[in-house]
Amino acid sequence: MEWLLAALEGFWLFLPAYVANPAAVLTGHGTPVDFGIKIGGRRVFGDGKTWYGLFGGTISGMFIGLLQLLISLVVPGIPSHGAGIQALFVIFLLSFGALFGDLLGSFMKRRMGIERGNKAPLLDQYDFVIGTIVLLSIFSPSFLYSHYFRGVHIAGLVTIIVVTPPLHRAVNILGYKLGEKEVPW
Ligand code: CTP
Ligand code: MG
Repeated sequence: MEWLLAALEGFWLFLPAYVANPAAVLTGHGTPVDFGIKIGGRRVFGDGKTWYGLFGGTISGMFIGLLQLLISLVVPGIPSHGAGIQALFVIFLLSFGALFGDLLGSFMKRRMGIERGNKAPLLDQYDFVIGTIVLLSIFSPSFLYSHYFRGVHIAGLVTIIVVTPPLHRAVNILGYKLGEKEVPW
């Protein structure tokens, strides 16, 4: 029971990161983050990473996090990202961290010569998780440790690792069918 609660809590608290990526797909268009600049003949990030997507995704993730914060204030027993400004900062790290990881993933894909939109197994699924964890580990290690590593809370991390690939796949197929994504991965 304790493990199940820790797993659910880990998933719940990670929601801003889960929302940021699909929100970037919906809001993304226009000027690419790398302004078209190339290194060694290949784009830094590519046309699939835009400023609008970066901002839209971050703001959407933060919106969900704020909603969760309100819920945690009203509904007893619902875990929260923290208190006050600290919670807002954690929510920002989750939202922006996901897109930061997504950018880093594209950066690595371009360096490996993989064109925009082409598959990179594992990297495509986990880049945003890694980006989020990296930012949290630098700027809010206590949140990361207490909800994803300490004692039974390792179940939170395991849940993220297990749930992410099927969730990523399902959301991308949905995005593709709705015509928001050019490829179903
Ligand atoms: N998107 C965006 N800005 C971001 C992230 C995503 O505009 N920061 C939008 C783009 O329209 C992108 C789509 O979301 O094409 C899907 O994102 P993703 O699958 O991450 O990008 P790909 O186009 O597949 O490019 P890459 O090969 O770099 O992953
Ligand atoms: Mg992609």
